[in-house]
Amino acid sequence: MSTSTSIPSKMRAVQIMKQGGLDVLEDREAEVPKPGPNDVLLKVNKAGVNFIDTYQRSGLYKIEKFPYTLGQEAAGKVVAVGDAQKGKGLEVGDRAITYFGGGFAEYVSVPRARITKLPDAVNDTDAVASCVQGLTAWTLVRETYPVKKGDWVLVHAAAGGVGLLLCQMAKHLGAHVIGTTSSEEKAEEAKKNGAEHMINYAKENTVERVHQITNGNGVQAIFDGVGKDTWEDDFKMIARKGTIATFGNASGAVEPFAPLKLAAKNVKVARPTLVNYVYTQEEYEKTYAELFDLIAKGIVKFKIHGEYDLSAQGIRQAQEDITSRKTSGKLIVNVA
Ligand SMILES: NC(=O)c1ccc[n+]([C@@H]2O[C@H](COP(=O)([O-])OP(=O)(O)OC[C@H]3O[C@@H](n4cnc5c(N)ncnc54)[C@H](OP(=O)(O)O)[C@@H]3O)[C@@H](O)[C@H]2O)c1
Repeated sequence: MSTSTSIPSKMRAVQIMKQGGLDVLEDREAEVPKPGPNDVLLKVNKAGVNFIDTYQRSGLYKIEKFPYTLGQEAAGKVVAVGDAQKGKGLEVGDRAITYFGGGFAEYVSVPRARITKLPDAVNDTDAVASCVQGLTAWTLVRETYPVKKGDWVLVHAAAGGVGLLLCQMAKHLGAHVIGTTSSEEKAEEAKKNGAEHMINYAKENTVERVHQITNGNGVQAIFDGVGKDTWEDDFKMIARKGTIATFGNASGAVEPFAPLKLAAKNVKVARPTLVNYVYTQEEYEKTYAELFDLIAKGIVKFKIHGEYDLSAQGIRQAQEDITSRKTSGKLIVNVA
């Protein structure tokens, strides 16, 4: 294995020993992982907070093995490369971004397939913002429903981490974007990021407004990370032959439904998850190459909501903030 000289044996990490409330988050001393032949060890500088961390902590998504280190994405410096991966494009000293897991720690060992070199122009903070939320937004508009020029699309939680990027990307692809959010301040933010119309669902009737805006036709695609609360209304706003992409559970998981529900308008429903779009090294690198290009051209930009410490208290605060609808954009964890 090629390594840099000063890798310690122990590190700081925020872990859970069981699933539950915010108090299950613990500051722990952990072993620095030993990368296998096809792995890469990253010294983490910045990590990112995502809504999924709250599902993993609460138990909505089952975790089988403890201790479990939360954190889906991390940017930093490569400090070791497994023997089978030497000379294959990633070397000790390279800056890199990984989408894998275990990011709330000083070091993370990840399969080579899920880590890629960072361009000099993308700093570690933006790299983290581009990762789970950026890759998710891009695969939603390219693969789940390939957005076309002239489409009308509805983005729920349009001022959120994924939401702001969906607004930018769908507009770039030529769509008219309608967004929903809970405050005027967030509505302004989404408009700055490409939403043509914003609906404040705390004050307005979303279904009525969508029909007003689209002359009663509805939208060709709905990108819904809210889940339970918005699901039924999605069917009232989707156009005939439209696609509902339900990709998250911010308000709770969508209940099972009968396929016959789709027949009324020949609707397609997708329930995608990022990992199945960027599973192989080829998929991860190709999707990231497209995203880096959008960043280099200034088409995709990141809004950083706030920064948090690598500590149980820091992560508790971040999880409280993201679940209480206070945030707009990316929440960063300072690790180094
Ligand atoms: N499938 C995948 O692979 C994948 C990948 C990444 C993210 N996701 C999902 O995408 C969604 C957005 O993730 P994110 O990290 O970018 O978070 P986020 O959108 O920044 O935060 C969640 C937003 O959801 C809205 N919301 C509506 N009802 C809510 C409720 N009952 N409780 C809390 N929030 C509520 C709030 O926005 P308003 O105030 O505007 O309503 C809130 O700010 C999440 O559901 C997440 O799980 C899925």
